[in-house]
Amino acid sequence: MTDQHAAAARVAAAYNAASDRYTAPPLSFWDRFGAETVRRMGLRSGAHVLDLCCGAGASALAAARVVGPSGQVLALDLSPRLLELAARRAAYEGLDNIEFRCADATSTGLPSESFDAVVCVFGVFFAADRPGFVAEMWRQLAPGGALAVTTWGPHLFEPGNSLFWQEVGRLRPDLDRAFNPWDDLVTPDALGSLLRSVGIGDVVVTAEGGTHRLLTSDDF
Ligand SMILES: C[S@@+](CC[C@H](N)C(=O)[O-])C[C@H]1O[C@@H](n2cnc3c(N)ncnc32)[C@H](O)[C@@H]1O
Repeated sequence: MTDQHAAAARVAAAYNAASDRYTAPPLSFWDRFGAETVRRMGLRSGAHVLDLCCGAGASALAAARVVGPSGQVLALDLSPRLLELAARRAAYEGLDNIEFRCADATSTGLPSESFDAVVCVFGVFFAADRPGFVAEMWRQLAPGGALAVTTWGPHLFEPGNSLFWQEVGRLRPDLDRAFNPWDDLVTPDALGSLLRSVGIGDVVVTAEGGTHRLLTSDDF
């Protein structure tokens, strides 16, 4: 098994395992950030959109609503269970302009310049070769199209996050972790540099603060 295949298998296993609660109310932030990313892109009706690392469809569903029946969304992810969940959500809404496909977003094999918009929400940091992944996104974008990449900012879910991991370290040290894949990509400078490093010229990075309300400690 190559390193890329091993990494893909780990991602699929982790997100398959998370799929049972992925759209539970305490995790409503996925849909919130997906919809906000799409809103900022100003997609037009009829556009063809590629959504990479689509998860349970937060941004893909939002894009499909905006581009309408004459548009099309192709949404890729490595987790079959999240893709099933996403497809059920699309069917529930009657959105038949989305295709969900199990595929590695870093090497899609899709033709160059074939989408009006490319979206990647909370996915870019998983790639071992991030510039290569961004270059691949850019390659698939038609001239004049829009690429949107959303990452986490600093202090994610604090102060709860540090307390949570402190307790995990105490109770289940085997599950403790010292590093998140996004830890070195949390500033506008870091994200802007990544995008510019592959020759993208017209880069706008917007930092957005936010809070996420939980009703009980169990929600965390
Ligand atoms: C943090 S989740 C975000 C999902 C979704 N974009 C959202 O905002 O709700 C990251 C997703 O990226 C997917 N992923 C990670 N690496 C991938 C890759 N190389 N190709 C396709 N999907 C990938 C995971 O399976 C997971 O569904």
